Amino acid sequence: DWTMAAFREEAIARIREQVGSSRVVCGLSGGVDSAVAAVLIHEAIGDQLTCVFVDHGLLRAGEAAEVVGLFRDHYNIPLVHADVSDMFLGHLAGVTDPERKRKIIGGLFIDVFDAEAKKLGGADFLAQGTLYPDVIESVSATGGPAVTIKSHHNVGGLPERMNMKLVEPLRALFKDEVRVLGRTLGLPPAFVGRHPFPGPGLAIRCPGEVTRDKLDILRQADSIYLDEIRRAGLYDVIWQAFAVLLPVRTVGVMGDGRTYDQVCALRAVTSTDGMTADFFPFDMNFLGRAATRIINEVRGINRVVYDVTSKPPGTIEWE
Ligand code: XMP
Repeated sequence: DWTMAAFREEAIARIREQVGSSRVVCGLSGGVDSAVAAVLIHEAIGDQLTCVFVDHGLLRAGEAAEVVGLFRDHYNIPLVHADVSDMFLGHLAGVTDPERKRKIIGGLFIDVFDAEAKKLGGADFLAQGTLYPDVIESVSATGGPAVTIKSHHNVGGLPERMNMKLVEPLRALFKDEVRVLGRTLGLPPAFVGRHPFPGPGLAIRCPGEVTRDKLDILRQADSIYLDEIRRAGLYDVIWQAFAVLLPVRTVGVMGDGRTYDQVCALRAVTSTDGMTADFFPFDMNFLGRAATRIINEVRGINRVVYDVTSKPPGTIEWE
């Protein structure tokens, strides 16, 4: 019988066999997958593992503190908090093409792991929380011959200059299975139940150029939206919900004055594996409430729209 307990034991044995007595560096992104991978690998090889949390400045509000707290305080897993936001935002300056953004971010992640591994005296392995759908989607969207819809930076191997091998213990799993495994490993239920968050982070939720100002605005809108979703008791029935800050300004009126500010799009979908998705049918009162709060509380946004595109033909993220 294939059960998660059996998977866990097998995975631990496989990790030990692959890694031996070598050092492993695991990249934490703030999401569930990399956290589950890290805890599983820690169970297998203990302090041969060091986690590197790459704080690229593209995270959501409060995310860095949450992850660092969980790993250092709760698990006692050695964790390096690499604050590299200046480097990431510097390289992204002026870049608007979605695939270029993804490539730049993926490349910088590798550079950071490489640098951190060297500081630790070298590591032979890099661990990642790659899932089965990441593997398929990077290869082909339709099951047909390879058409890259989006390059997921955690798929496709490492550059040769790196001299590190990959450990990807979740490569055969779907998201719901990773959540079961995470609970089996004792991760807090609220953490395991978090919505997926893409490696390139908020950069792909700011179509057009990514700037610190835009990221600040987006973070505020996103956190109000999620707050309203939690209050309405909808967080767990939605696969993923987030705000997108559009590179468009429109005219509005606030008090006696004219405004000319940015547009925020809200996205929420249901899905079982992220490969297909339906837009979430919010009640209009909910949407009105969220929009009013965002416009009143976030300077820089004067219009909110709701994305009613399913996948296909849309993708979940906008880039
Ligand atoms: P799309 O936008 O392709 O997204 O419909 C499907 C799921 O994958 C997530 N996603 C990513 N996850 N690295 C990740 O780890 C990435 O580069 C990436 N791009 C998209 C997305 O959030 C959704 O859950």
